[in-house]
Amino acid sequence: MSKIYIKTFGCQMNMYDSARMRDALGTLGYETTDNPAEADILLLNTCHIREKASEKLFSEIGRLNEFKLIRAKEKKNTLIIVCGCVVQAEGAEILQRAHAVDIGVGPQNYHRLPELVARYNRKKGRVLEADFPADSKFDYLPKTKATSASCFLAVQEGCDNFCTYCVVPYTRGCEYSRSADEIIQEAKDLVSTGAKEIMLLGQNVNCWHGDGASDLGELIYRIAEINGLERIRYTTSYPSKITENLVRAHAEVEKLMPYIHLPIQSGSDSVLKAMNRLYTASEYIDIIGRFREARPDIAISSDFIVGFPGETDKDFEQTLEVVKKVKYTSSFSFKYSPRPGTPASLMKNQIPEDVKTERLMRLQTLLLEQQKEAYESVVGKVLPVLLTEKGKKDGQLIGYTPYLQSTHVSLDDSYLNKIVSLKITKASATSLSSELSCDITK
Ligand code: 5AD
Ligand code: SF4
Repeated sequence: MSKIYIKTFGCQMNMYDSARMRDALGTLGYETTDNPAEADILLLNTCHIREKASEKLFSEIGRLNEFKLIRAKEKKNTLIIVCGCVVQAEGAEILQRAHAVDIGVGPQNYHRLPELVARYNRKKGRVLEADFPADSKFDYLPKTKATSASCFLAVQEGCDNFCTYCVVPYTRGCEYSRSADEIIQEAKDLVSTGAKEIMLLGQNVNCWHGDGASDLGELIYRIAEINGLERIRYTTSYPSKITENLVRAHAEVEKLMPYIHLPIQSGSDSVLKAMNRLYTASEYIDIIGRFREARPDIAISSDFIVGFPGETDKDFEQTLEVVKKVKYTSSFSFKYSPRPGTPASLMKNQIPEDVKTERLMRLQTLLLEQQKEAYESVVGKVLPVLLTEKGKKDGQLIGYTPYLQSTHVSLDDSYLNKIVSLKITKASATSLSSELSCDITK
């Protein structure tokens, strides 16, 4: 049996893509392995979002090439394939600079992997596929299978918002929504092979506008009808495009988890304007209010960028003020990273690195305090937890509460992939400890 080793960088969309690449290469008989030394294909799925993420690529290619060279001495052929957003942005340079790479494939072309691998194996020619094809890759990908009780499902991809800092519109292309029927079929395929939870994915998931439902809210109502599916989540949402249906779904659809990731990026209206984000801080706070009215216990998370060009101390203080008002359960915060080809990278008033570092530390201290409070607030409660992973220690499992808080519990593997009522006994800033409260609920 031929083996494929996949290493994924970046966001959940990339994790989804990697699973679909595995599905595609499965048609040629490839099976995944965690051990690169035994892999016939070494595949890197790359991320271009910040400089740090992109920089990892060449060192990772070097590391994988060592396996390729050792295998070559044993007369074994190994393909190195690089996929993802860095290939879309800089594919030709990668192939030119890294001779170990055999195939480069952009995020909209990976359905062609079987054909490219077969072609490479016949002719041994290096190849780059990074156009935006007229057809959707989803029309060509084979049926998928669940790899865990919690699975990703891409419903929307790409972005037409053009935030001035972001590469996604250039690497993922314009907004595209899959039809409701296609999404429901994929959800059923996942559920019939073991999924209990589905995370609907999109770069702007609430901008979904596919055939068969009026908006993401209505789509969620339809997906909730699938028997055997227990939990629905979605990410990432764009603040100004929240519909009433979506808010209502949080009040009415039991399977929809009480959690929303709603990136504000900055609490300053002038920074938001320079970012081309189409809302103000107070509009954002109003939207959070609507969600909390519909579902008072909803957990809120966000992304933040500090040190965007022109961000003053006062602008940054306004971000801290919004954080204090909203009270986040969890968050991701980054220093602004100028990306080639984006308008913000050409803005004159770039912020010095030490100022960015100091602001990031202050913001993260506050966010961590809030996260700790949110974790402590569930201690003593009994919550349904979907146990999806084995812990580092034997006899320990890891799962997620409805609020997407990670918790570990001492239980044997028979509880894996089940929703279990756990009593939360202890909290740290990043994790919870639990014990079995009653027996398996689902
Ligand atoms: N610099 C820093 N952070 C960025 N993000 C996107 N582009 C950049 C950039 N150029 C962050 C945003 C986004 C998250 C996925 O990554 O916060 O929501
Ligand atoms: Fe990174 Fe964005 Fe590409 Fe995801 S879509 S891999 S976050 S650049």
